[in-house]
Amino acid sequence: MLPRVRHIGRDTLRQWSLAESILGSRRVPSQTVWSRDQSTTVTTPPKTIFSGIQPTGVPHLGNYLGALRQWVTLQSEAAKDTTLVYSLVDLHAITVQQDPKQLQQWKKESLAMLLAIGLDPNKSTIFHQSDIPAHAELMWILSCQASTGYLGRMTQWKDKTANEKDSSKKLKLGLLSYPVLQAADVLVHRATHVPVGHDQAQHLEFARELANGFNHTFGGDVLIPPETLISPARRVMSLKDPMAKMSKSHPNPNSRILLTDSEETIRRKIKAAVTDSMDGITYDPEGRPGVSNLIDILYHSDAHPAYSSQDELAKDLADLSMRELKDRVADTVETSIKHIRASYAHFLHDNDHLDSVAAQGAEKAAKSAAITMKAVKSAVGLG
Ligand code: AMP
Ligand code: TRP
Repeated sequence: MLPRVRHIGRDTLRQWSLAESILGSRRVPSQTVWSRDQSTTVTTPPKTIFSGIQPTGVPHLGNYLGALRQWVTLQSEAAKDTTLVYSLVDLHAITVQQDPKQLQQWKKESLAMLLAIGLDPNKSTIFHQSDIPAHAELMWILSCQASTGYLGRMTQWKDKTANEKDSSKKLKLGLLSYPVLQAADVLVHRATHVPVGHDQAQHLEFARELANGFNHTFGGDVLIPPETLISPARRVMSLKDPMAKMSKSHPNPNSRILLTDSEETIRRKIKAAVTDSMDGITYDPEGRPGVSNLIDILYHSDAHPAYSSQDELAKDLADLSMRELKDRVADTVETSIKHIRASYAHFLHDNDHLDSVAAQGAEKAAKSAAITMKAVKSAVGLG
């Protein structure tokens, strides 16, 4: 089966109004941008967007440019009848050992962060995954269809287990079955589209296989195979090791910019980013990964871009010194995320509001999941 991955804003087949509008029009040839009027006349069934993030620390710039910013954009740009569902996937977070108190705190902070980036509980369903038992229940049912061979070949499992080869005691079943839970997240809400960074594409391909396999085995179209929406900022790289992606778990905190970092910290981290000693600025991700990552960050962070590609931007930056480039990147990043920092501080201290958002989200998510579970249980013979 062909992978169904849509690179948002870059593909030429633009059948869906959301894909056209999701990230503004700068990377979309103008003749293919649909007007709002046109999009309302297209008779496609309503879409459901689902995505998730692990509450395992403050999200970084990679999370924001690769996923979270799209979640917010969809609130205003998706067709009016689109359902938006976003989850803090705490059950995924415990696939590695977590300190319980720390996890509680991270869950709260992550919820405050989703509000700070601009998610609106009246437009989007925002909830903690573990509040909805149907996710784990569907996971079990799907586990009975999932191939361990496929799971064992997945990149995340192979990466995380590479160092544990000699100790199968340390290799936990939850880590192997992680993608089955992710599939359940998406399928239980009948998601049609899933906006994520590139590292999640393989997991979503697996979700589609599971959905198709389930439908084939039990007949009918009980589960909807979702489409992957990859953001243009598909892989923001580490500031300290530009061959590796920016990640929450890397031991060096200077490898990532957190959405809560002060302006001073942002400047310091970008100043210390690994680059090279070649003259001038060019965009060459293979030959100059550090400089190219900075150009990528600049390109994707700029809210009012005048360039249609990183190459075009790099031509304009050609004569800058590395220091000047870094200053420019720091200015742009600061401008693009400073509003988040301010509103995060506000939401974090409003416990009542956070509790009520979580409760409201759980109620809506439970209703959504119940519809699928009824159909799934009936198909399997459990209902
Ligand atoms: P996680 O923090 O692993 O739960 O990731 C949440 C979302 O951020 C997922 O959609 C990831 O694909 C995306 N993401 C994480 N790291 C990066 C990165 N370095 N570049 C682009 N997207 C990322
Ligand atoms: N596995 C994803 C990550 O690590 C998080 C996630 C869990 C997710 N369930 C999901 C993303 C469903 C999209 C859809 O980033």
